[in-house]
Amino acid sequence: MSKIQEHRVMLKYADDPEQATLAGYRHNGGYKALEKALESMTPDQVTEEVLASGLRGRGGAGFPTGRKWQFVPETDKPKYLAVNADESEPGTCKDRQIMELDPHQMLEGSLLCCYAIGAETAYIYIRGEYPHSIKATERAIEEAREAGLVGKNILGTDFSCDVWVHPGAGAYICGEETALLTSLEGNRGYPRIKPPFPAVEGLWRCPTIVNNVESLACVVHIINNGAEWFKGLGCEGSTGTRLFCVSGHIARPGVYELECGKFTLRELLEDFCGGTGTGRPIKGVMPGGSSFQVLTPDELDCTFDSDSVQKAGSSLGSGAIMVFDDSVSAVEVALNIAEFYSHESCGQCTPCREGSDWVRKLVARFCRGEAREGDIELLMDVTDRMDGTTICALAEALVWPVQSYVRKFRSEFEAGITRRAAEHEFGGFSKPVESVP
Ligand SMILES: Cc1cc2nc3c(=O)[nH]c(=O)nc-3n(C[C@H](O)[C@H](O)[C@H](O)COP(=O)(O)O)c2cc1C
Ligand code: SF4
Repeated sequence: MSKIQEHRVMLKYADDPEQATLAGYRHNGGYKALEKALESMTPDQVTEEVLASGLRGRGGAGFPTGRKWQFVPETDKPKYLAVNADESEPGTCKDRQIMELDPHQMLEGSLLCCYAIGAETAYIYIRGEYPHSIKATERAIEEAREAGLVGKNILGTDFSCDVWVHPGAGAYICGEETALLTSLEGNRGYPRIKPPFPAVEGLWRCPTIVNNVESLACVVHIINNGAEWFKGLGCEGSTGTRLFCVSGHIARPGVYELECGKFTLRELLEDFCGGTGTGRPIKGVMPGGSSFQVLTPDELDCTFDSDSVQKAGSSLGSGAIMVFDDSVSAVEVALNIAEFYSHESCGQCTPCREGSDWVRKLVARFCRGEAREGDIELLMDVTDRMDGTTICALAEALVWPVQSYVRKFRSEFEAGITRRAAEHEFGGFSKPVESVP
């Protein structure tokens, strides 16, 4: 048996079909954290508890949740919570588990956040391709509203809060927090320059907290059990439990709730997840979605936590771990990434709009075995010029992985240069790249 075990806190009742209903959720202790906060804690105490727990956002950037809440200024303007349920990072499918199997958990976490920051309205922005999540969340809100848990004078207190679902329309960029807000306001989902950060100036220029679904689910357990209990799980810098979505060439794919800091990335993949399952060795691992650097087999002995994976040169990002074995061409993976980001670029910034398409075309040239001498240098130059020169981080989400593929699998790119293609295992086409001119 693997020495690694799941530690289910957020997914504790995920196998209970009644958990998605208000009755089932309450039966298993649901809404006790909200009752506790409203009866015995001030809003500042809720924020302080979340800060003390060390909770870092689960949407990808890992910003401390309590600190973000503290940025909300004292003002007469309305304040808002926007729940980021867009879940569009390739490989990520964890928020969906919470929304479909335990939607009241997200709702309770959202109400706790609203209480802490003084918001009376929360919007839950759900990925449009998730009709079941949308339905389950809407049903949960209706049940909660009928039971006096959403709306005016919640649980007979002065705290009032309404919650609305807003379905997205299929744009990856609307998961970026400022694009999400622009979209919620009814406009095209363009990211905005930061600062001002949304906590200071967000929806309709009012203070707005944007938090990921899983971050808010954690808040419920922090308030129920205390910051010290949460800090006792995981390790310094990666406290609590986290949901990880393991996919690709892996014998046991799935969404797992794990404590960080207790094992290495290699142990997770080879021992707990059973290796590639194809009989072939691991060739590359994207440990945090497609937006971060690939790790090679010799880089998998880092401890599995945010800081250690960062030291190894990548990031746990949104918790999506994608694995591929040595049957896969690294250049084709890079092309897949480049095609995705160039398609999803919103087009506002020239380096991202033009650069992402150049990168796509260049990588496709390597894939076809038609690259020219100097194209590796050109690719690095184009990507260097995109890095840090744009409004949002989508450009880096293309640059960082693509550069890492060039650096770590350079011989495969070299094999894509016309005159060398025939001499290499991955030289030139291994499948048609029809979409690329
Ligand atoms: C291009 C791009 C796409 C993003 N997509 C998502 C997403 O789908 N879901 C999400 O929670 N965060 C996403 N983020 C991160 C958000 O901008 C933001 O950091 C997060 O929602 C904050 O919540 P947290 O502090 O609870 O993690 C994305 C960021 C970028 C740059
Ligand atoms: S970096 Fe790309 S996606 Fe982000 S605002 Fe600029 S053009 Fe749009």
